[in-house]
Amino acid sequence: MSFQSDLLKGHVALVTGGGTGICRGIALAFAAHGCDVAITSRRLEHLEPAVAELRATGRRAMAAAADVRDPAAVEGVISSTIAELGRLDILVNGAAGNFVCRAENLSPNGFGAVVDIDLKGTFHVTRAALPHLKAHGGSVLNISATLPYLGTMGQSHAAAAKAGIDSLTRTLACEWGPYGIRVNGIAPGPVEGTEGVRRLTSEQSRDAAIRDCPLGRMATIDDVANAALYLCSNAASFVNGVTLVVDGGLWLRSSRILGD
Ligand code: HXC
Repeated sequence: MSFQSDLLKGHVALVTGGGTGICRGIALAFAAHGCDVAITSRRLEHLEPAVAELRATGRRAMAAAADVRDPAAVEGVISSTIAELGRLDILVNGAAGNFVCRAENLSPNGFGAVVDIDLKGTFHVTRAALPHLKAHGGSVLNISATLPYLGTMGQSHAAAAKAGIDSLTRTLACEWGPYGIRVNGIAPGPVEGTEGVRRLTSEQSRDAAIRDCPLGRMATIDDVANAALYLCSNAASFVNGVTLVVDGGLWLRSSRILGD
């Protein structure tokens, strides 16, 4: 965003899943706008290169490894963020698991693993962040997907989890608005250059997504990061409880965003 710099000056953000893909892009966009950033994911080796990039922007940055399915580990990440960066203003819930598997072949544990990471993980981190956000107001951003808007085959687990996240976004927006905490979401479609698109889609489905998208291309990580920057900045000071679709209008035209 060239029209205004330092949209998040003086703020501290925690980004789950922030070592790679969309969430790494969000973390870097936040840092470019004056925000200090903590990132977390299961493996420290996935976080270290991103922390180096964040520090190269001149902002303070830290990494803490945790599985968002473990509420105690999540509490530890929040405590380290406060200890090292001093406060918490913004939480981005981006940690997600996914694979393509039709429901008839999906084990209870397979369904549960994705719901536990995406939906329950979002709840655990958001709940643990509340006391710190409540201290001065803040913003929560939940990374969702357009998967549940149509009957996306092979995605019963992820679509159900993302639908649950959208519901959580609306409920917490109402419960926590009085604390000065805005809770919003972003629903991207396929985003080029991400692990998700590389692993979950075929060349055929990627071509179809580009052809069907009214804007004629796939999203970039920057498209999503700019939307995150908007929703977590004062530019969106009266936006609460929405999940912003950032897919160029694709879902209005097509359900073929995966290869199954
Ligand atoms: C069927 C599978 C499976 C697969 C795992 N399982 N992969 N079932 N097909 N491909 C089942 C396992 O058999 C097991 O069930 C259960 O899931 C748990 O698997 P584990 O390997 O023990 O668990 P865990 O390592 O904790 O988690 C697995 C995982 C996770 C959920 C697959 O490692 C993961 O998703 N990693 C990738 C992260 C990632 O790329 N995230 C970005 C998502 S992008 P059983 O019954 O055998 O015990 C995204 C955007 C979507 O979501 C939009 C794109 C267009």
